[in-house]
Amino acid sequence: MVSPEGIVGVFDRAADTYDDVGVPWFRPIAQGLVDELAVQAGERVLDVGCGRGAALMPLARAAGPTGSVLGIDLAPRMVERTARDARDLPQVEVRVADARAPGLPPSSYDVVASSLVLFFLPDPGAAVRTWAQLLVDGGRLGVTTFGPQDERWEQLDALFRPYLPPAMLDARTSGRRGPFSSDEGVAQLLREGGLTDVRTAHRTVEAVFRDAEHLLEFSWSHGQRAMWEAVPEPEHERLRRQVSTAAEQLRDDSGRLSFTQQVRHTLGRRP
Ligand SMILES: C[S@@+](CC[C@H](N)C(=O)[O-])C[C@H]1O[C@@H](n2cnc3c(N)ncnc32)[C@H](O)[C@@H]1O
Repeated sequence: MVSPEGIVGVFDRAADTYDDVGVPWFRPIAQGLVDELAVQAGERVLDVGCGRGAALMPLARAAGPTGSVLGIDLAPRMVERTARDARDLPQVEVRVADARAPGLPPSSYDVVASSLVLFFLPDPGAAVRTWAQLLVDGGRLGVTTFGPQDERWEQLDALFRPYLPPAMLDARTSGRRGPFSSDEGVAQLLREGGLTDVRTAHRTVEAVFRDAEHLLEFSWSHGQRAMWEAVPEPEHERLRRQVSTAAEQLRDDSGRLSFTQQVRHTLGRRP
């Protein structure tokens, strides 16, 4: 796993292109979480690790002007850009804060949402316990993590492997080991965090690329950037060519270049 400070730096540098290279990805994933949480008008919502607002914006629409939505993220550039996008939504506030210790009053949110963040935290169990304490009785928590990935995508990741330190072998997400390797592992984190009625909802999302160049652009725009940054600069061009050649060979019979990813939304309720 990349260190917590390291991964936040990666997202800070990615913020200007994150979710903005023409591959609908984080927004459709987060929309699934928002749908499962069924936020009602007037509810108080916290979005942990809000990034560029993939969950925050639909949460704000659901909570409406009588509700409130706070987005927190540790990457200042993410916060700056997302706050700017939300400037006309009076119910939204975005601020820099650490998911591990948000410094927010206990029992003050109806809903806590966190899409694709938990696996970056060194102690996910402690984070879930902390977030559960922020809920009112009966409040809902929902976290999104990755399920199994298209094996074609893994073939491309394998090209980075010779350059990566052992601690970083799953740097796009750090998210397919330990509790994140199964639905039950994540469900257990929520139950141990004091939540009840824990359930899992599944979705499959697809990333579609125009060509290998587009895929490379996408790879710099999110967590996979950590893999590029671990590769010595003089090796970049060679690796670009390798990834590009391999990607072109992964087109399907109709010439389409796309990968699928299974996503799990794990939901629980504070008793
Ligand atoms: C994969 S992005 C997800 C962003 C957004 N939720 C989405 O679905 O697009 C992970 C986000 O978690 C943030 N993050 C990582 N560690 C954090 C921490 N300790 N506290 C707050 N935010 C953190 C990163 O800065 C990044 O914006």
